[in-house]
Amino acid sequence: MSVSESAVTPQDDVLTPARPVANRADQHFVILLANAKGGCGKTTLSTSLASYYAGSGRDVTLLDLDPQQSASQWCRQRQQGGNDDIRLISIPLDRSFHAGKLQQALRQTNDLLIIDSPAGLDGSALNALLNISRVVLVPVLPSPIDIRAATRFMQAVMLSPANRRRPKRLAVIANRARERTRMYSRLELFLTSLKIPFLSTLRDTQLYVRAAGEGCGVLDLREADQQDRDAWRTVIEWLEVQRHLSGVIPRL
Ligand SMILES: Nc1ncnc2c1ncn2[C@@H]1O[C@H](COP(=O)(O)OP(=O)(O)OP(=O)(O)O)[C@@H](O)[C@H]1O
Ligand SMILES: [Mg+2]
Repeated sequence: MSVSESAVTPQDDVLTPARPVANRADQHFVILLANAKGGCGKTTLSTSLASYYAGSGRDVTLLDLDPQQSASQWCRQRQQGGNDDIRLISIPLDRSFHAGKLQQALRQTNDLLIIDSPAGLDGSALNALLNISRVVLVPVLPSPIDIRAATRFMQAVMLSPANRRRPKRLAVIANRARERTRMYSRLELFLTSLKIPFLSTLRDTQLYVRAAGEGCGVLDLREADQQDRDAWRTVIEWLEVQRHLSGVIPRL
């Protein structure tokens, strides 16, 4: 598979009238990385996951919805490094966005679709994304502002029409944690008190910054230690369980 990059053009819109996507969505496993709060690690987690799955031989499509295009830049960096194993689709979530545009991403997905969403996601855009997603991963930083924002966001997900129609598997990941700090303890207490799975804690390390710059995932770096690998294993195991429960058969 080669890295292909595409953006929706007005012409595409004409060629792709809005129609229900449920049937196509049923053939894919769609992972949405989301939180209304900026800077919590949505791009870092989506790119690291994409890199892990591509490295495991999976057919991965990465959908970059962020007008900032961080995931797209990461993918181009990866491509320049000779790694053509992720299909990139860029659909900036701006005023011209509508649910029909997501069909393009679904049409170009053979197996796994990983969606990197921008900060401030809510309303009809959130609902459109939930309609095509199986699971939603919410990264949360250990700060009072982030905890409050994540709480509001998870409420918005649970109250969305898409979630009421077909409940999503929602899970949280603590990111940039420094485990012996009071703030981390507060975050941990909060996350474990939720009725939502608290999957893992990713430590605060420059390895994530390096991976972002090099177009790879943190697990591709030799310096990633056992703690990093264990933290990611829990996330990936949970995703695999969800995938099996959803009945999506992988095409390897
Ligand atoms: N575990 C981590 N340790 C250290 N730095 C991290 C970690 N996770 C993310 N970062 C850094 O934090 C910054 C924000 O992360 P990222 O861009 O993934 O967040 P985001 O939620 O996608 O932000 P935005 O809302 O702006 O799209 C980046 O510089 C990233 O490299
Ligand atoms: Mg981002």
